[in-house]
Amino acid sequence: MTEFNRVAKVSDIPDPGKRVYELDERLIVLFHVAGQFYALDDVCTHDDGPLGEGELQGYAIACPRHGAKFDIRDGRVLSMPATQPTGSYEVRVEGDDVLVKLANGSVAEAIGDAEQSSAEQIGTAETGVKTMAVTEDGVREALKQVIDPELFVNIVDLGLIYTVTLAENDGKSDVLIEMTMTSPACPAGPQLLQNSKDVLGRIEGVGQVEVKLVMTPPWTPDRMTEDARDQLGIF
Ligand code: FES
Repeated sequence: MTEFNRVAKVSDIPDPGKRVYELDERLIVLFHVAGQFYALDDVCTHDDGPLGEGELQGYAIACPRHGAKFDIRDGRVLSMPATQPTGSYEVRVEGDDVLVKLANGSVAEAIGDAEQSSAEQIGTAETGVKTMAVTEDGVREALKQVIDPELFVNIVDLGLIYTVTLAENDGKSDVLIEMTMTSPACPAGPQLLQNSKDVLGRIEGVGQVEVKLVMTPPWTPDRMTEDARDQLGIF
């Protein structure tokens, strides 16, 4: 059974601040921000950059190698070039001690295992990712991790997700999404479809995932959210 392990004293890490610890042969970055502690794998999922050496910006940590950013609260990707979350762990404070609970394998390990085997294994791998209720909002939120590699905006804010359909199946939720591309010849299409499938497969409680590409109605710029417009400098 995994248990909470004493890692540091509260006073060891300034607020805001971070420090790298070795725990069970794993390097963990412990963050202290606004009175709370958070723990991530010291590994950028883009190309193994040491996150503990990156710059802490509020609740974001920037990889020192190519600048990908992760949310320190749950390990999700905030900006490219990383596209997959890094491992995130439960942290508890007892008196002056900070304790971390290692899950049975981090998210990064689960992704690595899954890439070596089949796509189905991604959906069932035990990971350190936090449980998300399977709702349409949860699915759309998760899909914000998928970034268009040419526009650097996530596919939800770009307005590429047309429909999200959930169906109960043997205690799990099957997910069907219909998505489009900004143009029929979009070269990033196959990558966006696969990344969407991977992200949805990692949500706890999700069963089968189907991602359907539809070209009608055609995408138009007015489908973008205000956030996407801001990022692209369109007013
Ligand atoms: S290794 Fe972190 S952004 Fe490339």
